[in-house]
Amino acid sequence: AVVEHTFVVSQVKMNRACRGDTLVTVVNGQLPGPAIEVTEGDSVVVHLVNKSPYGLTIHWHGVKQRLNCWADGVDMVTQCPIQPGRNFTYRFNVAGQEGTLWWHAHVASFRATVHGALIIRPRSGVTSYPFPEPHKEIPIFIGEWWEVDLVKLDTTLGDGVDYNPVNTTINGKLGDLYNCSGALEDNFIIEVEQGKTYLLRIVNAALFSEYYLKIAGHRFTVVAADANYVKPYTTDIIAIAPGESVDAIVLADAPPGKYYMVALGNQQPPPDIQIPPLSSRVLVKYNYNPSKEQALTLGASVMAPEMPDQHNTIASFYFHGNMTGSFAHLPVPVHVDEHLFISLALGVICRGGHVPSPSLPCSKLNGSILAATMNNISFEFPSNVSLLEAHYRGNMSNAGMLHKLPDKPPIVYNFTDRAMISEGSEEAALESTLIATTVRRFRFNTTVEIVFQSTTVLQSDSNPMHLHGHDFFVLAQGLGNYNAERDVGRYNLVDPPVRNTVLVPSSGWAAIRFVTDNPGVWFLHCHYGFHMSIGMAVVFEVDNGQTLNTTLAPPPADLPICEQHDSSVAY
Ligand code: C2O
Repeated sequence: AVVEHTFVVSQVKMNRACRGDTLVTVVNGQLPGPAIEVTEGDSVVVHLVNKSPYGLTIHWHGVKQRLNCWADGVDMVTQCPIQPGRNFTYRFNVAGQEGTLWWHAHVASFRATVHGALIIRPRSGVTSYPFPEPHKEIPIFIGEWWEVDLVKLDTTLGDGVDYNPVNTTINGKLGDLYNCSGALEDNFIIEVEQGKTYLLRIVNAALFSEYYLKIAGHRFTVVAADANYVKPYTTDIIAIAPGESVDAIVLADAPPGKYYMVALGNQQPPPDIQIPPLSSRVLVKYNYNPSKEQALTLGASVMAPEMPDQHNTIASFYFHGNMTGSFAHLPVPVHVDEHLFISLALGVICRGGHVPSPSLPCSKLNGSILAATMNNISFEFPSNVSLLEAHYRGNMSNAGMLHKLPDKPPIVYNFTDRAMISEGSEEAALESTLIATTVRRFRFNTTVEIVFQSTTVLQSDSNPMHLHGHDFFVLAQGLGNYNAERDVGRYNLVDPPVRNTVLVPSSGWAAIRFVTDNPGVWFLHCHYGFHMSIGMAVVFEVDNGQTLNTTLAPPPADLPICEQHDSSVAY
């Protein structure tokens, strides 16, 4: 079947923090935007009508877009932005994936408010859920409420301006701590019936933080992540990083009453981030008619879950490590063609792109900006042609300042030494950071293994790394520095989870493996908004295959043309 939507992007006024209206850019006047609900195998057609003052694109996060890179929706990577007053129609198929994905703007920081669910259900009569049919499905979008201009947020991050969200949102609402009108309907409430099961389709759409999610008195059974089934496992806490999605079943088996579901930001330990805890809560309310005595004892009180400390990163480490894939997927390729080791760090670049050195610090040039890097290179978008157009026309090397991503960082040292968090440390100067449009080229059908190493160079963050156009096996994760001799033995080659986003733990590493089976140019980046904005990204270029059914088709006729791109329009 064909599922068709019209998305009108415009600016509307919303009041969330009881401080008056903020102008936000949203789809169809809603936050989150409309959910797209499809059956596996469907075609999706979305007509995007841009009535906002910004150039925009929409990315279908996790959709593989096989032989359809033109619809991937990454600003200056797969297309030029759709200019204000213009339209573009995205067309793609959703095949071989089931579960929860989502869509979001892929320009500047607009995904903070331009986002929504993409729900893929099994074909009825052909397959079904590998778990009992839930009574109801409930999308849960964890996000943040920002009262800063999202363009400014994106362009000034490197100047070290510290922007923080007002607080956490659940399904676009700040929760009952900001109940401006006092009306209960202002907040999202989950109503449940005792004995019934509920499938929560949870997405972390936040720019800023990983989240812990708990419901007092209840447990979750995790059944899928990133639209891939996992072996069901039961837990009282879910950890979810920006870009990830988790499907979990909740059985309403507690005594009838009221319970809080709480989302708490999991911030890396100070000194990197020292903001008050980010959190939001919604009510899970049993639908029942209490007797007078019950009403007296239960009616007024709401049970709250006990949350971990906001700086506890270990619960997230174990949540991710506990995941195993369901067996219904292809075997893990054993032979690896290309090995990459990618360090994830922050670095300092002098204005104008100079590399600082002790004898010529940025202060003697024009001051410094903060950059995020992969193997010491900070990604810069090309400015006048999308990389996919360049790839398709075979003139990739003319597409601005291209630079090949090195297979490993130039200098090997102790990546996770806590001393390297501080800006003045000598080790931090080991990072000779470059700004470039970094591309790594692969032959079609290459098996690639990547070890991502989070570092403590000017940061201590975890890094949710998201690859477009492919899913991958997550083979292992660990704390500290990766050590091939020791760690290859820990790889799960039997039932690793299949994901599109891997959370590289704070001061740790993660190893993934995948086959480059999709020609085109595919973005790989950290899904923290601020890390992506300041360059923790690279483009993977996958060669066209040799046969007709592995070759990328020509661009759609209405693809926004880069030559028309008006640089006076902020995007
Ligand atoms: Cu969810 Cu490149 O993004």
